[in-house]
Amino acid sequence: MAEIALKQYLENGDIDEGLVSVILDLSSVFEKIAQSFKTVDTGKAGSQNVYGEEQKVLDVLSNDLFEDYMRKNQYVGLIASEELDGEIKVDGSPYAVCSDPLDGSSLIDVNLSVGTIVGIYKTDTFIGSKGRDQLASVVGVYGPRTTILLTAKKGVHEFTLRDGQFFLSKENLKVVEGKMFAPGNLRACKYRQDYTDLLNFWVKEQYTLRYSGGMVPDINQIILKGKGIFSYPGYEDYPDGKLRLLFECAPMALLMEQAGGAASDGINKILDKELSSIEQRSPIFIGSKAEVARCEEYLSRT
Ligand code: AHG
Ligand code: MN
Ligand code: MN
Repeated sequence: MAEIALKQYLENGDIDEGLVSVILDLSSVFEKIAQSFKTVDTGKAGSQNVYGEEQKVLDVLSNDLFEDYMRKNQYVGLIASEELDGEIKVDGSPYAVCSDPLDGSSLIDVNLSVGTIVGIYKTDTFIGSKGRDQLASVVGVYGPRTTILLTAKKGVHEFTLRDGQFFLSKENLKVVEGKMFAPGNLRACKYRQDYTDLLNFWVKEQYTLRYSGGMVPDINQIILKGKGIFSYPGYEDYPDGKLRLLFECAPMALLMEQAGGAASDGINKILDKELSSIEQRSPIFIGSKAEVARCEEYLSRT
């Protein structure tokens, strides 16, 4: 059977031409970011982002690629990124595109997998929006292969880069039940008995540990293997944890729900949370439905 290229897949998929154009531009951004890993310095840029986090050269370059492509796309009127301050209006309409251009950049110097996370909305401000308003979410995964996980709210599909083009490699990915866990922020166990109890449950039930330290490869793995749970709770002075609702949690949650899984902050669905600030963070428990329900049950015990 002939292989299906991303462009062809989108054009046959009854998706608005503007959205197709934005997704294709994003696939070019991913391709260029993947290429840059081969040549660009893995070290620090000597600057900080708006969160006071030290930027890597590749954080800056990935953001520049995202920003350039989105500014030039006639269908994009608003952009936001983890590496930019606030939201930025640009010349175009009607789409609003937000990104963590390089998630897991601290893993680059040790050659672990990293990714780019993107959410696409139709709005003139992200403030007040909910993850459920996303029209699509697109995630680039840079491992031994470069892949894309895509949902335009018609299931989740994987595309693989080969000879400068992305081809459909897996269609309609589904997450069901199975014992695999990726427990983030275990520092919380010092202060949270509920998270410690949950962790003990997974260990005693002999779940398989699969944790890379990168949210993108960890969640990509759950979606591809079709089972498991990823967690990143907060504690004490950081009750909302580290991960950002707009740039990281909401796009990954849309993929997971579209794959038949769930995503919660411990109480509410991630996709139902209204964004009050661009920088907003959220705890996240994301994976199969039963695993997310178990997290909610354990975390409401204390
Ligand atoms: P960043 O975009 O700043 O590189 O964040 C990486 C994230 C995520 O990918 C991962 O799951 C988490 O940080 C790990 O955080 P710890 O620092 O707590 O290990
Ligand atoms: Mn990140
Ligand atoms: Mn980042």
